[in-house]
Amino acid sequence: MKLVVNGKERLVAAGPLTPLLHVLREELGLVGAKAGCQHGSCGTCTVLIDGEPRRSCLTPVGAIEGASITTAEALGDPANLSVVQAAFDEHYAAQCGFCTPGMLLAATALIERKGGALERDEVVEALGGHYCRCTGYVKIVDAVVAASRGETGTRAPSTLEIRAAGS
Ligand code: FES
Ligand code: FES
Repeated sequence: MKLVVNGKERLVAAGPLTPLLHVLREELGLVGAKAGCQHGSCGTCTVLIDGEPRRSCLTPVGAIEGASITTAEALGDPANLSVVQAAFDEHYAAQCGFCTPGMLLAATALIERKGGALERDEVVEALGGHYCRCTGYVKIVDAVVAASRGETGTRAPSTLEIRAAGS
């Protein structure tokens, strides 16, 4: 079967009942989506399927033939962060990072859907099914609100980042 993953058509050999999470991580080598509870409870495996946040651990690939999948790998890279990634960085919204890919994708979809400034309660409701084991919820909500308002690019680069950019 075929999927469009991060804009590229990919052939998938796994059987139709294989969870999308396993296809992404084990067959396609995309490990941004994390294997947490694997029962639909924690949100860390969240990817976008045709633009909507979905639990990849609960999604059999056979049910999404031809769909467009977006994983955290498509959001940006260290030299060119997406708006939401930049806001997480500036607000120190990632600690161990295990929940971060799912949070980033759910927040990205929320901001695109709203198309304007978000209130804190809207973010809390939308991310309510995402668990952060490091309990950094306040900073995560701060980051998503800031990203929705375009308030990024405010953190000065660290000495290490300046050195890395010059090397
Ligand atoms: S790993 Fe899918 S919801 Fe927890
Ligand atoms: S940053 Fe560690 S689980 Fe959220």
